Amino acid sequence: MCGIMGYVGTKPAAPRLLEGLSRLEYRGYDSAGIALAGEREVRVFRCAGKVAELADLVAARGMGTETAGIGHTRWATHGPVTEGNAHPHRAGHVTLVHNGIIENYAALEQEMAALGRKPLSQTDTEIAAMVLDAAYGGDPVTAIRRMMEKLEGSYAMAILFDDKPGTLYAVRRGSPLVVSGNEEGTWIASDITPLLAHVRRYFVPEEGQILIATATGTVLVDAAGSVAAPRWLPIDWDDASAQKDGYPHFMLKEIMEQPQALWKTLQPRLGEDGCVSFSGDGIPSAFFRKCRRVIITACGTAMHAGLLGKIAMERMARIPVTVEIASEFRYAGPILDADTLVIVISQSGETADSLAALRLAKEKGARTLSVVNCKGSSIARESQYVLYTHAGPEIAVASTKAFSVQILALYMIADQLALGRGDYGPAQRLAWAQSLRRAEALAARTLRLAPQIKEAARELKDAENLFYIGRGMDSAMASEGSLKLKEISYIHSEAYPAGELKHGAISLVTFRVPVVAIATQESVRVKMLSNIREVRARGARVLLITREGWQPEEGLCCQVMSLPAEEDILAPFSVAVALQLLAYYTAVERGLPVDQPRNLAKSVTVE
Ligand code: G6P
Repeated sequence: MCGIMGYVGTKPAAPRLLEGLSRLEYRGYDSAGIALAGEREVRVFRCAGKVAELADLVAARGMGTETAGIGHTRWATHGPVTEGNAHPHRAGHVTLVHNGIIENYAALEQEMAALGRKPLSQTDTEIAAMVLDAAYGGDPVTAIRRMMEKLEGSYAMAILFDDKPGTLYAVRRGSPLVVSGNEEGTWIASDITPLLAHVRRYFVPEEGQILIATATGTVLVDAAGSVAAPRWLPIDWDDASAQKDGYPHFMLKEIMEQPQALWKTLQPRLGEDGCVSFSGDGIPSAFFRKCRRVIITACGTAMHAGLLGKIAMERMARIPVTVEIASEFRYAGPILDADTLVIVISQSGETADSLAALRLAKEKGARTLSVVNCKGSSIARESQYVLYTHAGPEIAVASTKAFSVQILALYMIADQLALGRGDYGPAQRLAWAQSLRRAEALAARTLRLAPQIKEAARELKDAENLFYIGRGMDSAMASEGSLKLKEISYIHSEAYPAGELKHGAISLVTFRVPVVAIATQESVRVKMLSNIREVRARGARVLLITREGWQPEEGLCCQVMSLPAEEDILAPFSVAVALQLLAYYTAVERGLPVDQPRNLAKSVTVE
């Protein structure tokens, strides 16, 4: 979702802003722009389209010598995708870019109208720029504070004032923003990806702090007007990990990285006794003690990981676990107390709905633990404890490696929750840790099936509708497989628990509607076969994803994909890879922009 860039330093700003914006493209966007602060004027360039088009526009008009500027990739929320709605927005002396939503923009627009100010665009952002300009009397910090008092909603902003050309201002509330610097100057961005090539550390301004950045460094001013010290965080991702590295798409690269990601996530949590331990994460075992129930909340793919975590936790710890879609959780009046553990799962750690769910859980006194991939992100910082997954940067919009490591993290948490059970002793713990060690190999072996999966994708590529069905863990995997396909191939598909299909949706099954049937769970194998026969009897072409050694009867399935899996609970590590590859190759066959599918954003920072 919207990406913000800012640079102030000793070098020309335009190429640095454009390069930074291209690194933020993965977040998902539909238009782009930059503003360059010169001694006499602020030059603004905007276009409805890609950063490459913006770069052509800037090159045609001159990159210039300005050494300060701000940039933006917009994901439309207020008003269509037009040049006029693209950021930066100007009002009087002020130029700004914004990520988030100003919820009271309509009331503020009326207030501005009363002052004779009319916006040129349909955006909430321009209204914020007008409010800031109206408050500006020569002191940017005072004006920004006044603006913040008036704005409701979420925002991260980078701001230029016409009469302060060598200074950049930034502020955030509920939206991400990171800051860093080196001898070339100071950088501001929505996340650390554009910084990887330049610096090895960064900080996140606290909500309400105002950042004042110049070529020589930064000053943070808190709400009371005092100077605050930044909390620097190391960057442990390297720039190469955010490059395609010879792969045609980030998505394929990230699917292929799953074995290493699984190992990197597990290895630091294996104690000397070979069992799972969170001591290196600073999470005491006591945190899980006397926990009466667990609520897992997340969005999209992360929520599907939660469905698998629920099954593992309930099986192992025998405590009730519910999985709530984060955007619903907050409004459902959840019953929470100190004996409830709320687990928030998020790759980015910035998903606004998940962050809001976390804040509510904290407010109601629940224990909170987050499973997050991006270090130092809002969800990681605001939860009581964080269990980082070590997937490395995930650039493709469709989440792949982050999903597998989320499942692994939840399986490790299941171990900690089960400690309270009398019959879960050292032998059981060791056996569980040994099972988890096999996840890496299962993913690696499934990757070798890529050529066969590519063939299967050719069969699916012209389908208009299809079903994914499964039971138990495979039902959760069906949801994830269907989501992956929808996201990047734009083929409509529905995921159904296989046994539920006959209660309605089977009316849609015909020879034109292929069915991806996932059958890896020993415990429901016979029942699953019956469900496959039901759709086959209605003419559906069935692609069966099953376990090595399980051969269905002749004629039941058009294609059979046999995956490595040794026990039911580990099957998702194989199935995830197979379903991701299936969606990937289907989208490639259809000639679609796999890494940046239409309308989607990687990090959804609005509710
Ligand atoms: C967006 C992405 C999905 C992702 C979801 C949750 O919708 O497109 O791929 O699963 O957000 O993101 P998170 O960063 O919280 O895991």
